[in-house]
Amino acid sequence: MRATEVLTAHHDELRSLLSELARLPGDRAVERQRVLDHLVDELSLHEQLEDEIFYPSVTAASPMVAVAHAEHRYLEDQVAVVVRTGPRRAGFDEEVRVLTAAVEHHAGHEESEMFTEVDAKLDADVLEDMGARIAARLEELRASRTTQLRLRVKREVLRRTPGGARRPR
Ligand SMILES: [Fe+2]
Ligand SMILES: [Fe+2]
Repeated sequence: MRATEVLTAHHDELRSLLSELARLPGDRAVERQRVLDHLVDELSLHEQLEDEIFYPSVTAASPMVAVAHAEHRYLEDQVAVVVRTGPRRAGFDEEVRVLTAAVEHHAGHEESEMFTEVDAKLDADVLEDMGARIAARLEELRASRTTQLRLRVKREVLRRTPGGARRPR
């Protein structure tokens, strides 16, 4: 698979976790927390794959890379708000909606603009090779004890950081 296809498939995994989260009713807080933890981890891995492998390789092919880095930081901010709010608080659904819109804006923009440009400008062999590297790195990170620990600590730190309310914007 081309790198752009691997990343689009991973966007779809993020989308399905977000819709699973939106579908779970408020009285199923334990399941909501489980899906949220999974989502936070996968989103973090997705950004890592793009920041480490994909974006550096396509900077010349797409002017959108600079914007994309900034959008990742915004996604991380909103993830922090969702985690701090937590599935038992009243504002949770709204914060998940804000995160869903932000993910859709960013991933949709990547798919419709950046990936289209990259597919048009880079050789198919290069894209296939990059796709294999991204897929292998994703599996490696998912299986890594160190990564699992890092992600667990990250979630715990976010959860304990005071201030669940949405920041002004
Ligand atoms: Fe991205
Ligand atoms: Fe992406």
